Amino acid sequence: MNDNLHQLRCIGCGARITGAQAQADFRCADCGELFEVEYPGWKERRGPDRPNPGALKWLWRERRSSSELLDQSGVWRFRELLPILDSMGNAVTLREGNTPLYHLPRTSKALGVDQIFAKHQGMNPTGSFKDTGMTSALSVARERGFEWVACASTGNTSAAMAAYAARAGLRSLVLIPEGKIAWGKLSQAMDYGAVTCQLPVDFDRCLSVLTEIVRQAPIYLLNSVNPYRLEGQKTPAFEIAEAFDWNVPDHLIVPGGNLGNSSALGKGFRELHELGLVARMPRISVIQAQGANPLARSFAASKGASAPIASLEPVEANTRATAIRIGNPASWRKAARVIQETGGWCLDVTEAEIAIAKAEIGAEGLGCEPASAVTLAGLKKLRVQGAIGSGETVVLVLTGHTLKDADYTIDFHRGTLLSNEETGGPDSPISKEIAALRRNAVAVDATPAAVLAAMKGSAK
Ligand code: F0G
Repeated sequence: MNDNLHQLRCIGCGARITGAQAQADFRCADCGELFEVEYPGWKERRGPDRPNPGALKWLWRERRSSSELLDQSGVWRFRELLPILDSMGNAVTLREGNTPLYHLPRTSKALGVDQIFAKHQGMNPTGSFKDTGMTSALSVARERGFEWVACASTGNTSAAMAAYAARAGLRSLVLIPEGKIAWGKLSQAMDYGAVTCQLPVDFDRCLSVLTEIVRQAPIYLLNSVNPYRLEGQKTPAFEIAEAFDWNVPDHLIVPGGNLGNSSALGKGFRELHELGLVARMPRISVIQAQGANPLARSFAASKGASAPIASLEPVEANTRATAIRIGNPASWRKAARVIQETGGWCLDVTEAEIAIAKAEIGAEGLGCEPASAVTLAGLKKLRVQGAIGSGETVVLVLTGHTLKDADYTIDFHRGTLLSNEETGGPDSPISKEIAALRRNAVAVDATPAAVLAAMKGSAK
């Protein structure tokens, strides 16, 4: 199973090409849709040649105690399920993956669901889930001999790309929407040495400008339209299944922006199922911010219908969760398929719901960036709707570290984040909920008595 057997299959017209035949923008030459990596050998292998699930599970676990560089990566220790490189010597790794799965006791109690967990992808080397996809796609760029790699980004992709490019000795180009990315992320792209261009347009337009650039110059595109990104990003599904001893959770809840991550996790669980490593797939739900909710709108419009979602109306995106400030998501077809095939849901949540959920995840001692908190906000809605039962197991995918966007957190605790319109005014139930969560820093005299008084006055 170690051989590079992969081919690319168009998700629109079904055309199959080799990796080397892909266009620079990773769109199908015939129908313009995206490709997905496929391993035809897996279907053909039958009988004794079929991978032995027990042996693979044992091997992957053994690698966790190995001192080999690739074994220490939470992506490449599963390399039998992503044979995309001719030579593993081209893999570029920063020891990504192997992220913690935390139980959320307070959230479990509050929602009356015992088994709520957070898979914290913010605990990756550059602080977001993007590292798992960057190690795979950037390794392909290196193998194909590119000198330059590039992405359009709301911040995390650029941070990850810049770091992995620096490790590989490649140059990197970043296009970001000016004024709409969190400082922590911008600082990372600079720190790792990317050429960073701030464009006076939104993310969607940055991506279309970059698409034109890569058609003209030999630059390797590393947005999630690149199907090799999704191969690395599917591996947290393997880690989750492994953590539950290969019994998958009932629900997986993922934030939705450009919709690559939900597509990748769905692909990961689908492949585990097809290869006989797990007995079923979890229900996978995608949550968007209300101000950047094109897929949630499509699902709401097609309520009850079982036919695939046929089209997506782009929106003018606006949310403080800048990571998912995306109005025209590239991978919506892949994500819609995952939601529909697993029986999941697609919802949106308000700015106030995101802010409260983020503070609650902080109060669990974990923290996350605003885009990640949509998962908990969505879970609360699904619980109210009766979609998730008290005896079910839920995993929230926390996509980014809390330090990525410290400004947001400080504004929340200072009480300057949300407008009256968003909270319903100072006496509204939302404002009361927020007041109970706020932990603003207070100025006190430099005396023990004053500090002790401040402790006494603080809410529990
Ligand atoms: N959460 C975080 C923290 C993100 O950075 C992103 C996407 C998402 C969720 C959504 O994932 O796009 O695969 O649906 N960030 C991209 C970027 C767009 O440029 O960093 P998605």
